[in-house]
Amino acid sequence: VKRFLDLADFEREEILDLLRLAQSLQDHPQPQALAGKILGLVFLNPSLRTLASMQAGMARLGGNSFVITPGQGTWQLETRLNAIMNGAAAEHIREGIPVLASYCDALGVRAFADGKNLAADLHEPLFSMLETLCDKPLINLESAVNHPLQALADWRTLDELRIGTRAKFVLSWVYHPKPLPLAVPAATVHMAAMRGMEVVVLRPEGYALPSAIMEKAGAAARASGGTLSETADRTNALAGADVVYAKEWGTTTDYGDVEADAKLRAELSDWCVRERWFAQAAPHAKLMHCLPVRRNVAVADEILDGPRAVVKREAFNRLVVQMAVLHRMLA
Ligand code: CP
Repeated sequence: VKRFLDLADFEREEILDLLRLAQSLQDHPQPQALAGKILGLVFLNPSLRTLASMQAGMARLGGNSFVITPGQGTWQLETRLNAIMNGAAAEHIREGIPVLASYCDALGVRAFADGKNLAADLHEPLFSMLETLCDKPLINLESAVNHPLQALADWRTLDELRIGTRAKFVLSWVYHPKPLPLAVPAATVHMAAMRGMEVVVLRPEGYALPSAIMEKAGAAARASGGTLSETADRTNALAGADVVYAKEWGTTTDYGDVEADAKLRAELSDWCVRERWFAQAAPHAKLMHCLPVRRNVAVADEILDGPRAVVKREAFNRLVVQMAVLHRMLA
């Protein structure tokens, strides 16, 4: 594996093979597998789980890592092509990334969407540039419209819970005080479709997932024998649900318009997952969320502190699957 940028780059059997390796590394630790290897991590945006679990995973396999958070003890990095660099950034990624890649055996980068132009963000301009700049294995730690490590961890969590590949998986928009990127919803809907599930995207008007994201997930569903639909009808969507995956994202009708988004979401604070959401769901239906989550804004305490929530297991599984990805890349 030279690139881990998108689950869609892999065949289903390759994903299942990574998940088997993750289980094997958990059952039979290999503390020297990556001895002498170095992982570089560049975080252009904040993180808790990705930052800690990538470093921990590398250490558990006997390797080392370094972390760069541009502008915090290191030079601020410019990412725009053809920028006139007379602002705060002292260095461009066109120099910074190849230099960092020369110090390590694999490089992970987190770079969220610009959040201004939907068509541009859907084309992943920054990661396209990174691919040309990095001559070492490259890992997507969350990009404009993808979070493949989260999706892989969530696939493992579904398997662990013995949630069937044909089970009903509802990705539900939930409230947040400001618009968030499309990376997790896009990666999640694709993962569940690729797994073969009955996938329903539940969202209020103004928050439909972009057609490019739905078409990609739809193709994955057709290949796996799953289904994909989208609705604003919460009662119908949640009826018979085996999994509710809560996630916040910004409006797609006025993408990048913070004021328009604020007007839309002003009426939507009841999109906070509560126990009553599960009235018609499967009896043991689970609540998933990638974290971080705002309690009693996106998901209520009664859910996060109860038996439905599997959010901490999802976060733990980040460590396990990332070790498998690192092993495949570097062992
Ligand atoms: N889910 C996730 O990627 O968490 P962090 O943003 O804390 O890394």
